[in-house]
Amino acid sequence: MPKINVITREGESSEVEAENGLTLMEVIRDGGFDELLALCGGCCSCATCHVHVDAAFKGKVGEMGEDEDDLLESSDHRDENSRLSCQIEVSDAIEGLTVTIAQED
Ligand code: FES
Repeated sequence: MPKINVITREGESSEVEAENGLTLMEVIRDGGFDELLALCGGCCSCATCHVHVDAAFKGKVGEMGEDEDDLLESSDHRDENSRLSCQIEVSDAIEGLTVTIAQED
């Protein structure tokens, strides 16, 4: 159960325990962070689960898929650390990850 650090849009930081095998989106949403809407439920079709991941973890959160890349292209808040959190699977490799919920488009 890796621990991850979630930073809200207002800059508040909290540590949550993540269960291996869930997606990062599920962990954040189920952790009570309502601002992560995740409207499509993780089907990679809404981009409302947009987060910025700690650059140091780039190699540990898996490769970005083509669909994910296309969806993120529609966000005004995309940067080089942008990911859709429903496309990141939780594993021990992300222990200590800091993830920031992206501003709403
Ligand atoms: S929850 Fe819709 S794209 Fe991630």
